[in-house]
Amino acid sequence: MKEYHSSVGNRLLQSSTPVPLPPAWPVYDSAVAREVDRMIRAGDVFAFGDHPRLLDLENWARTYFGVKFALAVSSGTAALHSAYVALGIRPGDEVLLPTYTFHATATPLLSLGAVPVLYDCEIDSTKPSIPHLESRIGPNTAAIVVSHMFGLVGDMSTVMQVASKRGIPVIEDAAQSHGAWTDIGKAGAIGTVGCFSLGGQKMITGGMGGLLLTNSRDIFYRALTLGHSHERAKEHLTDSSFQKYGGDVGGGLNLRMHPVAATLALSHAKTLDERIARRGRSLTRLSKGLQGVKGFYPPMQELGTSRGGWYGYKALYNDEELQCDSPSNAVKKMGTAGLKVSIPSTRPLHQTSLAELHPSLNPANEFPNAMHLTSRTIGFPDKHFHNVSDEVIDEYVLRAIHIFGEK
Ligand SMILES: Cc1ncc(COP(=O)(O)O)c(C=O)c1O
Repeated sequence: MKEYHSSVGNRLLQSSTPVPLPPAWPVYDSAVAREVDRMIRAGDVFAFGDHPRLLDLENWARTYFGVKFALAVSSGTAALHSAYVALGIRPGDEVLLPTYTFHATATPLLSLGAVPVLYDCEIDSTKPSIPHLESRIGPNTAAIVVSHMFGLVGDMSTVMQVASKRGIPVIEDAAQSHGAWTDIGKAGAIGTVGCFSLGGQKMITGGMGGLLLTNSRDIFYRALTLGHSHERAKEHLTDSSFQKYGGDVGGGLNLRMHPVAATLALSHAKTLDERIARRGRSLTRLSKGLQGVKGFYPPMQELGTSRGGWYGYKALYNDEELQCDSPSNAVKKMGTAGLKVSIPSTRPLHQTSLAELHPSLNPANEFPNAMHLTSRTIGFPDKHFHNVSDEVIDEYVLRAIHIFGEK
């Protein structure tokens, strides 16, 4: 820590003025702004068939992830819904998913009448607890879902082994893990199907949007049939047994991505790796700094893996060491010192209102690791850290040291 201090000039700031942050992500360049302007003026704002920007985005995804099929859809939720339908999930089928995830991992299953069966995460990270996951597999298990929360990809090679031994497909909810990878491949391109959100403040965002990736022609065809009826389905479903359905009303849902959203998302896709590198440098600097702050533990960063764009930077903290009587008190203290931090909004699924509505989410069940993790995280304003100066990162660390002390 001493080393850290000298590298930033050994200045402990006592100021309580807010640390100035650059504008939050998303940011778009002027070239895409001009293109969107052109599209609006030309009325080029809808497509029932193959809009060129949709094709460009799907081509980019196939190349970047090295998969055979990519389908642009209206949201991450739509990608998951399409994946579940394409895998033939039926009412009563059990699907394993983590309790520590965003609710949209589960909601399409609930609307299909399937039964979500939750499993716990590891003690100090959002990675799946493999023993717990395995213990939840039963005769009615139809699929396993893994969510790479905040870009942290768990032990996918074991998950794939566990699943393939039993012939169960694996769905990766890669909504938060753009550009993340492990030794066995890129997040979203490892399992049977990969689902991405291209909405909100994701590293690639069109405001709204999603992507489904797969190497299976059947899964791609079924997903296309579900939500892209008429022209799109007709153009792509070369197999006559599918054409009959897709060329008509198909599954009857509208899950198409907006061409303006695809245009915006494509502009981000092209710069993904350079932005990941820049953001990674800032977050690694923050982690290095937080290692020296009493009570704080930076999020896991494993050798030989990448968290890609991270999506969220959630530090672990130990309230006993901090001598703060509650997590929100620590956040309050930091806020008073001009640091924008928060209690993360993600709560384990079994703790949400969904669990009251759907008994299968079992509110009485205990998931000790997810509960432990939820009560011990503090979110940093990483959406402002896509192009942030070292001075701002250092200011966060130095003010935290001033409040909580050095390790
Ligand atoms: C883990 C996870 N799954 C699914 C989704 C749903 O994506 P969307 O909001 O694009 O529908 C999100 C959105 O943030 C997410 O974080």
